[in-house]
Amino acid sequence: MVAAHAPGDAPPFDFTGTIMAAGPSPRGRLYSVRRSALHGRGAFALRAIPPGTRIGEYRGERISEDEADRRYPDDVAGPHHTFLFALRDGVVIDAAVGGNSIRFLNHSCDPNCEAIEEAGRIFIETVRPIGPGEELVYDYNFILPTRHGAAAKRRYPRHCGAPHCRGTILAKKR
Ligand SMILES: C[S@@+](CC[C@H](N)C(=O)[O-])C[C@H]1O[C@@H](n2cnc3c(N)ncnc32)[C@H](O)[C@@H]1O
Ligand SMILES: [Zn+2]
Repeated sequence: MVAAHAPGDAPPFDFTGTIMAAGPSPRGRLYSVRRSALHGRGAFALRAIPPGTRIGEYRGERISEDEADRRYPDDVAGPHHTFLFALRDGVVIDAAVGGNSIRFLNHSCDPNCEAIEEAGRIFIETVRPIGPGEELVYDYNFILPTRHGAAAKRRYPRHCGAPHCRGTILAKKR
């Protein structure tokens, strides 16, 4: 099975960053996408964002695991990079096709956001107060079909800068 993000319960992405939640929340852009010290591009808050704010949906084409494997064959020699997000029922969201800017949120072991699966859709919500300019990050909690041993962790190295950084985007279990 292809390696993909997993929702944050068992646990383990529009360029505009327009707020989705209705109600008293502030309207307008919540974040912008620019280069990140963590990796490539990331999403950065344009204003203070309170906890529990739904910042966007991880959109993209819905495909099967087999199709994800076909599109993105495992390249053990190369650095791992994916825009895939695996749902509980095996459906995989490929944000490289029809995705929005939520796909640019990077991983951190000390996240300020979480991924929530609701009725087969993935939403990213803040879990603590976020200051303007802060990078929006969630814990990818990648789950591999194989054991998360030292070799696997070396293939999925991440250094997010958190004091207790796991050094990998793989989930803790296994
Ligand atoms: C959904 S993309 C995130 C956006 C990515 N920064 C970009 O510019 O395409 C996921 C990929 O970004 C990389 N990535 C995300 N967070 C990272 C981190 N903390 N350290 C190193 N690489 C990271 C990994 O290659 C991961 O597969
Ligand atoms: Zn880390």
